Amino acid sequence: MTRMTITGPASSAPTSPLITPAPLRIGRLEVDSPVLIAPMVGITDDPFRRLAREFGAGLVSAEMTAAEPVVRRIPRTLELLTFDPAVRPAAAQLVGCDPAMMAEAAAICVERGASVVDVNLGCPVPRVTTRGSGAALARDVSGAARVIRAMVEAVDVPVTAKMRLGWDHSSINASELARALEDSGCAMVTVHGRTRAQRYTGQADWAEIARVKQAVRIPVVGSGDVTDVHEIRRRLLSAEVDGVVVARGALGNLWFIRQAVHHVATGELLPDLGFADRIELTRRHLELLIEHYGESRALVVGRKYVAWTIRGCNGAAKLRAMVQTLVTRADLDAILGQALAAGLGSGGWFQPIFTSGEG
Ligand SMILES: Cc1cc2nc3c(=O)[nH]c(=O)nc-3n(C[C@H](O)[C@H](O)[C@H](O)COP(=O)(O)O)c2cc1C
Repeated sequence: MTRMTITGPASSAPTSPLITPAPLRIGRLEVDSPVLIAPMVGITDDPFRRLAREFGAGLVSAEMTAAEPVVRRIPRTLELLTFDPAVRPAAAQLVGCDPAMMAEAAAICVERGASVVDVNLGCPVPRVTTRGSGAALARDVSGAARVIRAMVEAVDVPVTAKMRLGWDHSSINASELARALEDSGCAMVTVHGRTRAQRYTGQADWAEIARVKQAVRIPVVGSGDVTDVHEIRRRLLSAEVDGVVVARGALGNLWFIRQAVHHVATGELLPDLGFADRIELTRRHLELLIEHYGESRALVVGRKYVAWTIRGCNGAAKLRAMVQTLVTRADLDAILGQALAAGLGSGGWFQPIFTSGEG
């Protein structure tokens, strides 16, 4: 494997005296940073998790997986739940509403190396909610608690849950739900500070997330618009939350994970990566994808990362067209080489915008 260490530019001095947030414990698992990686469908596969863990994320997570194909041991589903012992701690995330099936699926996740099993109670998409799962199960507090209890009885790793604030603004129930899950043995809750009705619109409401923290003794992790290292540290130091999950903030910008982890631990600021280092990091990511999926599949899976990397690059439109036909390593070298030669335009790099997702 091509090993390359991106150390990035030197950090600046701490912006505030060194006080560090309390360590995050998920049941009996103590993680080494309260900055975690959110589960993201189509993104948080083994190579992504490997880089995120290398950059210091305390816990990495596989994407949401339906319990039923796990129990039926469908190979394509199980492939998503392959946990390399070198990339731990790592969580599996299950979606479903049948306690026995969720318990059986949880046991399979643990057998495959998961250090934590999370339940998705926030997925807004109709294909999930019309089956009573995801955000729909969060409306049925006792049903969700039964699912957690069955899973807790089935596995000896922490069982956690990820929820939204509620179905809509007239039915905010995250605190009530978190209390019921805590009573059922849930070891931690992650709260995305939006309702199901909001999907990905508007701003995440961190005051509501902090209210959930006041309602329970188990750790509460916040999610939503996590893109600013200062805000992350402030929220942790003020004990508004016990941890944060980075999601869209890392898309096209995995280095943000390192910046967030480092700032939380030291108060220092690591500068953004320069364009050449950003390209190098994408190359490394694509190399890991090739190792994991084989060249032809990896170069399809990896197109989005290349497209995100070249945002703001001079001549980006022409390069983006080339990304769509990316099939070999030689194509990859050509695109990245041309991007590097073209350089960033005056507007600089900009983050991709995602207005949909599964949690
Ligand atoms: C592409 C994408 C896929 C996602 N997949 C999942 C998922 O599998 N499970 C989940 O609980 N949340 C999922 N989410 C939601 C994120 O975990 C996170 O809660 C949400 O994006 C809010 O954080 P952010 O505003 O910092 O992006 C997904 C989000 C995106 C953008």
